[in-house]
Amino acid sequence: MSTAAATVVDRRAFWLRKLHSLSGVVPVGAFMCFHLFENASAANGPEAFDETVRKINSMPFVLAMEIGVIWIPILFHTLLGFAIIFEGRPNVAAYGHGRNWLYLLQRVTGVLAFLFIAFHFANFRMRKGEFELAPFEDVAAVLSTPWVFWVYLAGIAACVFHFANGLAGFLFSWGLTVGPRAKRLAGLACAGVGAGVFALSMRALFAFV
Ligand code: HEM
Repeated sequence: MSTAAATVVDRRAFWLRKLHSLSGVVPVGAFMCFHLFENASAANGPEAFDETVRKINSMPFVLAMEIGVIWIPILFHTLLGFAIIFEGRPNVAAYGHGRNWLYLLQRVTGVLAFLFIAFHFANFRMRKGEFELAPFEDVAAVLSTPWVFWVYLAGIAACVFHFANGLAGFLFSWGLTVGPRAKRLAGLACAGVGAGVFALSMRALFAFV
């Protein structure tokens, strides 16, 4: 390949990686936090949850927004995520440092998030072969099966870890945390964000059971 062609390919790969990184935070990560927050309304009872779902779904162009702002970015982040995983080389065995473990866990939780999102979509979004909303009692009925409940707990934990650990990586790769002290503080702050989001999601999950 000529030098000019190689430069074009490198530049494209660079921007794709940047877009992948950004999409993990906005809109995918932001949506995930909003979705967990929205579901936590279940803690105020079935009527409160059904009312929240009804309000959100009576917004204009909700399906177009859902596809454009949620599903297409998730699909993009997932496809590129798998490409990144296949070209990466985890080096935990060689260097077992904390950072190498976090690198590996980011990839493992990415795959788990993919499996969980597909399972979640099949349960509550594409139901009976159609785009259909799930009222409180349907969600509670699905989550009352013990193995499904545990899949939810583990799936949410994987998604939240992936988001919080990814946020720390994002801050670093976008040059927002420079130097070891800033990195350590950002790591702690992101762990705090992860713990908060996880607590909120458990409030939602336990409200249904
Ligand atoms: C709940 C859904 C998801 C959220 C909120 C999310 C969020 C994020 C965030 C914030 C990052 C950090 C970006 C950076 O390092 O600058 C990231 C990275 C990553 N994500 Fe996701 N993600 C999700 C789903 C997925 C899925 C389904 C995959 C598929 C395997 C995936 C694969 C990856 C990979 C491989 C990285 C690391 C990229 C790198 O080190 O450069 N993610 N994600």
